[in-house]
Amino acid sequence: MKKTIILGIESSCDDTSAAVIADGVILSNVIASQAVHESYGGVVPELASRCHQQNIVPVVSEAIKRAGISKNDLSAIAFTRGPGLMGSLLVGTSFAKGLSSALRIPMVDVNHLQAHVLAHFIKENDTDTNQPQFPFLCLLVSGGNSQIIKVTSYNKMEVIGQTIDDAAGEAFDKCAKVMGLGYPGGPVVDRLAKEGDPKRFKFNKPHIQGLDYSFSGLKTSFLYMLRDNLKENPQFIEENKNDLCASLQATIVDILMDKLRKATKETGIKEVAVAGGVSANSAVRAAFEDHAVRYGWKIHVPKFAFTTDNAAMVAITGYYKYLDGDCSSYDAVPFARVEL
Ligand code: KG4
Repeated sequence: MKKTIILGIESSCDDTSAAVIADGVILSNVIASQAVHESYGGVVPELASRCHQQNIVPVVSEAIKRAGISKNDLSAIAFTRGPGLMGSLLVGTSFAKGLSSALRIPMVDVNHLQAHVLAHFIKENDTDTNQPQFPFLCLLVSGGNSQIIKVTSYNKMEVIGQTIDDAAGEAFDKCAKVMGLGYPGGPVVDRLAKEGDPKRFKFNKPHIQGLDYSFSGLKTSFLYMLRDNLKENPQFIEENKNDLCASLQATIVDILMDKLRKATKETGIKEVAVAGGVSANSAVRAAFEDHAVRYGWKIHVPKFAFTTDNAAMVAITGYYKYLDGDCSSYDAVPFARVEL
């Protein structure tokens, strides 16, 4: 039987990515990152759009080449419609329209958040059966989101808890920035925390009702603590960097896992996944392993390549939408903000 082959295109922020998936099995996943933003301490939207324009053709060509297929083998083109930076999204959306029209195949618009969740269904090969069973809970933690999602099928999911202010990734990045650790700070905090004492410093934890999160109080508490100590000792950050990172990381992970445990109790669901950039964090991963043992959770932690933005997750989401006949029309416009 002819395979369903999907080309995925991701351009929501500062990574230009293209991937090919055949009947759910990954054939290629090419990512061009944009180093240009590092010296600015954050993503510059105007520069991101320009880089996407430069990268999109070579990245898509390379993904098709590495997959060992011809563009005429494609069944459909999936693209990220939002949320993300408007200028960046426009590049991927317009490219998808052009290619879809030229090849006379459908295109499928993909919600970036749904794609992070469905990254767990990307198969490495035909015999890979390590995917979550429905229903499951997914902790989606990135630079822009911290959500607990109840997933009942590929195309049916409900946000049951989310941050009311900053995202977990923002908490990592903003606290790292005040310590002078560069951008994005999350991976640096993770690395330094390995040499530090997670119990050395205590920070305020939020008291938020239900399953929602809040990280802005932690950021403020961290900032005040640094300010007070720097008055006494200007070398405070330098001398305590590892312990500060370890304590900050432990607090963020505690906040995330407290609500996730509550969600498993309330829903009775013990199949639990984690997704998004912060799922690369070693303490998050260790906490999941620990909860699997202590609370009998069946856990799903993504491969590192699928934690940050990538087109394989867009292609797999496009695949399941395509199977549902949920294709997009040519007047589709990107959404900078869109709910799950
Ligand atoms: O999902 P993502 O690549 O981008 C979006 O937000 O769309 O997530 C990026 C976030 C950044 O805040 C980054 O600092 C964080 O993920 N991150 C980490 C780690 N790797 C990436 N945070 C903590 N530990 C890590 N190892």
